[in-house]
Amino acid sequence: MVSKFLRLLKLLVLIIACYTVVLLLVHLGRHRGAVRRSARAPFIKKAYSKPATAPLQEKSDNVVDDDDHGWQSLRRLLQSNRGQGSPLSSDKCAPFPRYADLLFEGENFQRMREGNLSYYLFGAYYDRRLEPMVAVLAMINTIYGPYPPTYCQMWFDGSSRPSISQVRDHKVIWYDSWGQGPNYIYPTLLSCPVPKGQMMQRVPQLVSLVHGTDGCARATNALHVIYEAPRRSHALRFAVCVKDLYYPHRDISARIVEWLELMQLLGAERVTAYVDDGALLPNTTRTLLRYVQHGFLKLRRFRMLQLPGVDATSYLNKRVHEVLTYNDCFYRNLYEYDFIGGFDLDEVIMPLGTIRNWTSLVHHLESTDDFGGNSNCQAWASYCFRNVYFPEYREKPPYNETLPKHFYMLQHVRRVAKHLHPSLAAKCLHATAFATTLHNHFPLSWQNSCAPLDVSTALAQMQHYREPENKADLLTPVLDDNIWRFEEQLVKSSCVVFRELGWSP
Ligand SMILES: *[C@@H]1O[C@H](CO)[C@@H](O)[C@H](O)[C@H]1NC(C)=O
Ligand SMILES: *[C@@H]1O[C@H](CO)[C@@H](O)[C@H](O)[C@H]1NC(C)=O
Ligand SMILES: *[C@@H]1O[C@H](CO)[C@@H](O)[C@H](O)[C@H]1NC(C)=O
Ligand SMILES: *[C@@H]1O[C@H](CO)[C@@H](O)[C@H](O)[C@H]1NC(C)=O
Repeated sequence: MVSKFLRLLKLLVLIIACYTVVLLLVHLGRHRGAVRRSARAPFIKKAYSKPATAPLQEKSDNVVDDDDHGWQSLRRLLQSNRGQGSPLSSDKCAPFPRYADLLFEGENFQRMREGNLSYYLFGAYYDRRLEPMVAVLAMINTIYGPYPPTYCQMWFDGSSRPSISQVRDHKVIWYDSWGQGPNYIYPTLLSCPVPKGQMMQRVPQLVSLVHGTDGCARATNALHVIYEAPRRSHALRFAVCVKDLYYPHRDISARIVEWLELMQLLGAERVTAYVDDGALLPNTTRTLLRYVQHGFLKLRRFRMLQLPGVDATSYLNKRVHEVLTYNDCFYRNLYEYDFIGGFDLDEVIMPLGTIRNWTSLVHHLESTDDFGGNSNCQAWASYCFRNVYFPEYREKPPYNETLPKHFYMLQHVRRVAKHLHPSLAAKCLHATAFATTLHNHFPLSWQNSCAPLDVSTALAQMQHYREPENKADLLTPVLDDNIWRFEEQLVKSSCVVFRELGWSP
């Protein structure tokens, strides 16, 4: 009783402190704040010092991290090599790709056709987990194939000839039972081994795909091979991927701060989100840029493909693009992070009891695991957590009058009584060592490990802040205030951000 009262008192003091600082800041004027911020991170200055109405579509490479999807750097690379007067372009087999030949489609894709198949190439990633290879992520207009013979032409820095290898497999990252339709496209991962020879241990710089029988065709596409070499300082690192953000009419600033701060408290070291021009209100963008500036958030510009005969805004079209970006995010973070979660802004993998973060959670899981007595099993592809809904209960007053209303998750501590079955809407932390393709809710394929593990609800759960499918579940809520273990830290760190952004709490 006494300790509860003390906690309440501490919280009150914290909120008053927050208020005071914000008031002070407002009085000092925003000008000084802007100067101080820009001194720390000059690259974001332009976007940051604009009025809050600055649109994201402002052509600013600083705002969205589009280093390798921006075609500018690709153009420079292709043209610089050609300018060296090398014999590349006169070679009969697999000449160096010319920028002018590339067939762009939309903002982020390059198109390639063979018979009735269309490939929309999106990204290429170096994958040396089993053997050196390049994984190419594409959208293709079939789930079932058959696929024509396809080759990768891999270019290495400083070499005048490509290494050529045949695409080994097309892994479709979609089940037909999730939906399909004429003209639709489906995320697919193609893998090309780096051929044996002196280049085998090097990371290719560029890859082009061609159809045909020998891999010699002139390519009309070229992708940078993405490889973020690990610079890790410690083991067990977590990153989070968020599908493309689309809130054109709703300011989600406060929700985003609470969620991102909680991700950080739980152990995430990087969050990657995708966003299109005009998808967010200026205030939301400004909030996100604060996290970009601090290096916690990577924002990638992303636009869905608009294909004839397909309603771009349809449920199915959004879902297939979502899966594409989750896999892109996974492969980009392959080496720097050990576990990657794909979450929405209303989802939190919450460790329970004495476990307070994902590091402790994974340590606990690893140290107690007997792999169900299966001696063939050394590791799990992913740790998956059961979904449990925390509804809004709009008609009920805020749960706790002392907390500001905009701490949505801290205020919503009534949940439905039952966790969902593990096959329904679970979310996972995927092991970068093993998973090879991901769907939103579970991995679709993995190598060198066992299937995903359904983690006991005694250890952790996936808190989902939305309405349950079954409305009857609303009638028997239970109190679940596990999130309150983070209340003090969460309020404190959020207040720092509110202050930086110049809001009153
Ligand atoms: C393309 O044509 C082949 C052979 O006729 C057929 O089996 C396949 O289903 C077609 N694919 C698409 C996407 O139309
Ligand atoms: C931005 O969002 C914050 C938090 O919801 C709010 O306090 C502030 O008034 C908003 N600013 C504008 C310009 O809408
Ligand atoms: C996770 O929690 C443990 C135990 O509470 C703590 O020692 C550790 O520093 C925390 N790790 C992170 C990354 O927050
Ligand atoms: C509000 O939160 C404090 C601790 O943070 C708690 O002690 C108190 O019981 C809560 N009030 C209500 C009405 O639940």
